[in-house]
Amino acid sequence: GKVAVLMGGDSAEREVSLTMSGPGVLAALLHGGVDAHPFNPAERGLHELKAEGFERCFIALHGRHGEDGTVQGALELLGIPYTGSGVLASAIAIDKIMTKRLWLADGLATPRYVKLKKSDIGRERCMAIPDELGLPIIVKPPHEGSSMGMSKVMGYSEMLDAVQLAAQFDDEILCEEFIAGPELTCSVLGEGDSAFALPVVRIEAEGGNYDYQNKYFTDTTRYLTGALSDEQEAQVQALALAAYKSLGCRGWGRADVMLRKSDNKPFLLEMNTSPGMTSHSLVPISAKAAGISYEQLCLWLLSQARL
Ligand code: DAL
Ligand code: MG
Repeated sequence: GKVAVLMGGDSAEREVSLTMSGPGVLAALLHGGVDAHPFNPAERGLHELKAEGFERCFIALHGRHGEDGTVQGALELLGIPYTGSGVLASAIAIDKIMTKRLWLADGLATPRYVKLKKSDIGRERCMAIPDELGLPIIVKPPHEGSSMGMSKVMGYSEMLDAVQLAAQFDDEILCEEFIAGPELTCSVLGEGDSAFALPVVRIEAEGGNYDYQNKYFTDTTRYLTGALSDEQEAQVQALALAAYKSLGCRGWGRADVMLRKSDNKPFLLEMNTSPGMTSHSLVPISAKAAGISYEQLCLWLLSQARL
């Protein structure tokens, strides 16, 4: 039957979806013999999916109105099976603060944090945060991806600007203890007891900043698999798997992790429930290391689509 590849949307990450992840997935599905068609929910109402006879959706949207449970809820109502996590897990994972609360409740390590509301971001409040978390501090809008609106604050004087930048994207601001050490990512496929972790990828970005530019536009970012000791690899995979199950994810997800240099302890940053699928994205790199091609990955994810 007809498959819609949902791409674009109206989030801050729409370009990533529309120009990279979406076309990549679409091409792979077409090549794999699927009757796949692009569909941009920012241009057309989702109800048209039903009228046009689409039987399944591959969600290649990122961020709000795509990765956050809203599109998933609409597809539930329309009765059209879709890839990836359901409404609840998607809605929790889009919110880095709710995610941390669940992980902390389940005893999973995540950096210490302070949550600010847009309404209480005065100078005095901001200046108190380095006393609570130390420096540097990572300041982020908790509902965005791809490093949108994120800053690394090195000193008190930068704090207010960082919070105000994040506040342009979100009504809440997440201030997080910086964990010094290599940045890792661990993708998970499947659901419940049959979920499993793929090989861990270690990211080495130019200048140590894996930001929007280095995620999508530079060739210098290095992605290393097999970079950890067997024991450390297994530890990070177990953490990512526990993190995935803690949120109730299904289909696929990618846990972003910092490995603390001082003691090699891994800390969870977030779970992406509709991860990037550009040619140099992390899930495809990790799958490849496990012997799964980009096309096989897309076909398998589609085969797991459900309500
Ligand atoms: N939010 C981007 C798309 C990612 O996690 O890959
Ligand atoms: Mg993200």
